[in-house]
Amino acid sequence: MKILGIETSCDETAAAVVEDGSRILSNVVVSQIDIFAEYGGVIPEVAARSHLEVMMPVISKALEDASSTWDDIDAIAVTYAPGLLGSLLIGTLTARTLAILHDKPLYAVHHLKSHVYANWLNGNETMLPSFPVLALVISGGHTQILYMPAHNEFEIIGTTHDDAVGECFDKVAKILGLPYPGGPSIAKAALGGDPDKYKLPHPKVEGLDFSFSGLKTAVLRAVQKELGLPISHPSYDLKNHLTPQQIADFAASFQKTAVLILCEKLSLALSKYPDVQSVVVAGGVSANQALREALPEAYFPERSLSGDNGAMVAAACYYEIKSGVKPVDPYKLNIYPRISIES
Ligand code: KG4
Ligand code: ZN
Repeated sequence: MKILGIETSCDETAAAVVEDGSRILSNVVVSQIDIFAEYGGVIPEVAARSHLEVMMPVISKALEDASSTWDDIDAIAVTYAPGLLGSLLIGTLTARTLAILHDKPLYAVHHLKSHVYANWLNGNETMLPSFPVLALVISGGHTQILYMPAHNEFEIIGTTHDDAVGECFDKVAKILGLPYPGGPSIAKAALGGDPDKYKLPHPKVEGLDFSFSGLKTAVLRAVQKELGLPISHPSYDLKNHLTPQQIADFAASFQKTAVLILCEKLSLALSKYPDVQSVVVAGGVSANQALREALPEAYFPERSLSGDNGAMVAAACYYEIKSGVKPVDPYKLNIYPRISIES
C-alpha cells in the first residue's frame, strides 16, 4: 500500500510517499527556516503564504522521486491538527482537493501521532518498537509522555503545564543571541561549553507532568547575575554583553538541565508502567544529540525524520488503516489548531 503523506502544520511544507508504513519511496521537505531566521520566529501568515507557493511543487516532486503516478497512490494522509491555523488550512485544502480530483481515500492524521510513527520508518521489521510503548513527544509545541498499549492507542500520562521543551530551547537561544531555530543552535553552541558551569533549578512538578517556563526564567536570571546587571535589564540586550565562552557555557548548562528533566520524568514513567517494552522519542527535540546519548536504550527516529515531514504522516496513516480507522469525507474535513491526541 502506497500512501502520500502531506504535512504543513508549522513552517515545513512536506510530502512523501511511503510503502506499507515503513519503506520511504520519497520524502520532500521545504523548510521556511531561512525566512524566519530573519524574524527570530515563525510568523503564521507568512508561513501560510509560503505553504501555498510550494505545496503543489512539493507534492509533484514527492510523486516523481517515488517514480509514482496518481494511479500508484492508494490513499492520501494529511495533518489536520494541531498546528497553525493558516498552515493547516493549506495542507488540508490541498489534500481534500486532490482526494476528490483523483478519487483517493483521505485520512486525517494528528501531528503528534505522526511524530511517534517516525519511529516505525526504519524499514526493518525486526528493529521496530514492541508494545506497550512509552512515547516521549518533544517538539516546539508539545511535551508529553504517552502510553501506547497497541498501535493507534494513546493515553496522555504526562504533559507540560506551560511551555514545551522545544519552545524553551528557542526562548533560551533568543536570550543568548543564538539564531532561530533555537534547538540546533543551542546544541551546537553547547559543544564548546561547560555543562556544569551554571547550576539551574529543576522545576518542582508532581508526577509525570512538566514545566519549562521556569527554566527559561532561571537562565534569564543567571545571565543577568553573571553579567552583574539588574533584573530590570531588557532581556533582548543581554546577548550584546555575553562572551562566546559564556554563551557556550549557558547553552551547555541549559541543555544538560533540560535533558536531565526529560530523563527523570521518563524513568518515573517507566517505574509507574512496568509493563512497557519499548521507549520511543519523537518530535523536533528528538534530534538532540545529548538526549540521544542520555537514552541509549530508547528508539529515536532517523535524525532527518525528527522534524516535521510527510513520511511520518503516511506511516501513521498506514497503522490507522490497519487499526480500522475509516477515511474522512474530503468535502467536510475540518482543521483543529489545538486538539488532543486522545480525541
Ligand atoms: O517537531 P518540530 O519540528 O515542530 C513542531 O511540531 O513543533 O519541532 C521543532 C522544535 C523547535 O523548538 C526546535 O528548536 C527543536 O524542535 N529542535 C531541537 C533540535 N532540533 C530541533 N531542540 C533541541 N536540539 C535539537 N537538535
Ligand atoms: Zn512537529
